[in-house]
Amino acid sequence: TPIGILISGRGSNMRSLIAACADPEFPASVSLVLSNDPDAPGLRTAADAGLATRAVPHRDFGRNREAHERVIDAALREAGVKFVCLAGYMRLLTPFMTDAWAGRMINIHPSLLPLFPGTHTHERALEAGVRVHGCTVHHVTAGMDEGPIIAQAAVPVLPGDTPDMLAARVLEQEHRLYPAALRRLLQPEHAEAGCSGDAALLVA
Ligand code: GRF
Repeated sequence: TPIGILISGRGSNMRSLIAACADPEFPASVSLVLSNDPDAPGLRTAADAGLATRAVPHRDFGRNREAHERVIDAALREAGVKFVCLAGYMRLLTPFMTDAWAGRMINIHPSLLPLFPGTHTHERALEAGVRVHGCTVHHVTAGMDEGPIIAQAAVPVLPGDTPDMLAARVLEQEHRLYPAALRRLLQPEHAEAGCSGDAALLVA
């Protein structure tokens, strides 16, 4: 399946997807990496990996989110993309985009949804005093971080954790979870048992 990856920044989750796609057995290949920020470091990473990249700066469209999305949508279709992975894409999508790609667009979020949608999830987890935190891969719908959950990975919150320490622990799991969840979605018949056997990585 040709996929498109939408990023806004560093692109480490994008990198984990690119690495997974390098395996010929993996059921996806990256057709386009697109960013709303032309300065996103991830764009360079993708170009260095020999992938097609495109920047569609949201600033060019003022407040017209849908006009911005129409250009993104057209770029994805032109590239032959059939499935979209949001990987640190920091723009809220309108129903135009979520309807156009319904069932074919997923996101990774750095919390155990439905806890802590939105930003600053690690700070908020520490403030809330949770002992278990993690990340979630979910379908993208019009509500922010609200779509059906596909897979989650959990990490402990340890005494003395700072938001950065916790973020690093979660990010390590994000990089395992995202390719595993994508594989499971695109190739359900090849999926292992409901749980990967690793209690922390639950791809349901
Ligand atoms: C990740 O924690 C992702 O879950 C969140 O933003 C961060 C992006 O990191 N939405 P990267 O750009 O994939 O390195």
